[in-house]
Amino acid sequence: MIQQTHTAGGPQQHTIWQDGQVPEPCVIVIFGATGDLTQRKLLPTLAHLMHDHPLPESFKIVAFARRPMNDDQWRKMALDSVNKYLPPDDKLDSNAQKAFARNLYYCQSDFNDREGYYKLADLLERLDNEQGTGGNRIYYLATPPSTDSEIIYQLGGAGLARPSHVNGDEESWTRIVIEKPFGRDLASAQKLNRELARVFREKQIYRIDHYMGKETVQNLLAFRFANGIFEPLWNQKYIDHVQILVAESLGIGTRAEYYEESGAIRDMVQNHIMQVLCLTTMEAPVAFDADAIRDEKVKVMRAIPPLTAQEVAERTIRGQYTAGVIDGQQVVGYKQEQGVAPNSTTETYVALKLFIENWRWADVPFYIRTGKRLPKRSTEVTIQFKRVPHQLYKPSETKGLVPNRLTIRIQPDEGISLKFAAKVPGAARHLSDVDMNFSYASAFGIEPPDAYERLLADCMVGDSTLFIRRDETEMSWCIVDSITNAWKDMPASTVYPYPAGTWGPPEADALIEKDGRQWDNP
Ligand code: BG6
Repeated sequence: MIQQTHTAGGPQQHTIWQDGQVPEPCVIVIFGATGDLTQRKLLPTLAHLMHDHPLPESFKIVAFARRPMNDDQWRKMALDSVNKYLPPDDKLDSNAQKAFARNLYYCQSDFNDREGYYKLADLLERLDNEQGTGGNRIYYLATPPSTDSEIIYQLGGAGLARPSHVNGDEESWTRIVIEKPFGRDLASAQKLNRELARVFREKQIYRIDHYMGKETVQNLLAFRFANGIFEPLWNQKYIDHVQILVAESLGIGTRAEYYEESGAIRDMVQNHIMQVLCLTTMEAPVAFDADAIRDEKVKVMRAIPPLTAQEVAERTIRGQYTAGVIDGQQVVGYKQEQGVAPNSTTETYVALKLFIENWRWADVPFYIRTGKRLPKRSTEVTIQFKRVPHQLYKPSETKGLVPNRLTIRIQPDEGISLKFAAKVPGAARHLSDVDMNFSYASAFGIEPPDAYERLLADCMVGDSTLFIRRDETEMSWCIVDSITNAWKDMPASTVYPYPAGTWGPPEADALIEKDGRQWDNP
C-alpha cells in the first residue's frame, strides 16, 4: 500500500478566532445548567476556551436552572464537571480553575416563572454595570425540547430578547442558541420556528448542529472548492454513487426516554447526515458567507423529493440491535436497555437510498447508513467513481480491483484517501488497489478543535455560517417526514434485528446489493 503523507510546515497551534477577531464582552446564560449537556460538554468547552484562547476579561456565565443553589455551590458543581470531562491533556491547574469559577453566577428559577426572568434581567444589568459585560447576551437553551417554547416566550415577555440596544456608547446584541432536536417533525419544527420568530429575529437565532463544528466537515468545502482537480469530476458523469456512513459502537446509554421518541432517523439523519450530504453535493457558493452557503445547502434539499410510500418500502431499511459482542464485551439488546419498552419498534439503524434531482447529480444514488452498536465508530463519505469505459487488462489481471474510490474520513483517524489501481511489480501484468492517504494528525500535528468550541466561538463573534437556518431545518424535515409517515403504516416486522457488533441487518446489504454495489465498511 502506498502511503503518501503531506506536511504543512510541521506542527501548528490551532486558532479559534479568525483574522485576529476577538469577541466582545458578553454574558452567556445557560438554561438547563445542571443537565447532562451543560455538565459534560458546555462547561468543559467554555473552560477550555477561556483558558486557551484570548477572551475579554468581561466574559461571564450565568446558569438559569430550577435546582436551588447559590453561586458558590454552582461554581463547585461546574468545576467538578470541568475536572471530570476535560481531556487529560487539557486539565486546568488550580489557578486556572479559580479564574474560571470567578466568572460563574447562578440564577434559580422555574422556566415558567416570570419573576425568575426579571431576576435574571436584574443580574444581567448588575453584571453590565459591575463587570463590564456591555449588554451583550447569548442565551443557550441546553434544555429538554419540551421547555423551549416556554423559555422563548418568557424571554420575550421579560424584555430580554431585544436584537440590539444602546448600552452607553455601544450598541449591544442578543443571540439565542438552540440545541437539537429541533422539533420532531415538520409541524413541530415550524411551530418552534414561529415561536422563535415572534420573539427573536432570524439573525439572532443560532440553531446548532455540532457536526458543522467538526473541522473535517468544514473541510468538505475546502477540499471541493479550494482544489482545481476534484470539482470537474464531482458529478453524475464520473461518479457512480456516494455512500455516507455514520457508525457508532455505543448504544443509547441513559438516553432511552429521548431515543425512544427519536430513533436513528431523527437523531442522526435529519440533522448531521443531511448537513454532510449538503456540503458534499452543493454548488459552489457565491461567497464564503453565512447566507451564500446556506442558500446552496437549501437548494440541495429542495432537489431531494419527499419519498412516496412505495419508495420508502423499496429504498429504506430500519434495524434494531439485539444482544451481541462489541470489543470483546457482551452487550444487551436495545429492548433490554433501561427505559426502553419491551416491544419497542424504535429503529437504532437506518439505511436508505436517496437521489438528488438536479443536473449535477441526476441518477447518482446516495446510500446513507447510520446505526448504534455497530462494530466501530466511524463517519465517512465515500465517493465511488465510475469504472474506465474500456478495460484493457484481462479479467484475470484485474481480479478484485475496485473502481477509484475517494474516502473522506470525518472521524476518527481524520483524513482522506484515494484508492487507485497500480501494477504489481514483476513480469506479470497484475493490478492491485493502492491508497494515497492524507491524515490530519500527521500533516498538521495537532488535534482539531472541538466542534462545540468552534461553534461557541462563532456565536460569540456573530458568525452564523456554521449554524442552521430556518428553511434548512424545515426542508430537511420534509424529507424525513415522508419516510417516518410511511413507516407508521408498515408492520413492526420491518424493523429488522441485527446483533450488536455487526454492520446492521442483512436486509440492508440487500438494499445496495440489488443495485450491483456493496457497502464500503471501514
Ligand atoms: C448526537 C446524537 O447528536 O450525536 C447522539 O444525539 C450521537 O445519539 C452523537 O451519539 C454523535 O456525535 P459524534 O460527534 O460522537 O459523532
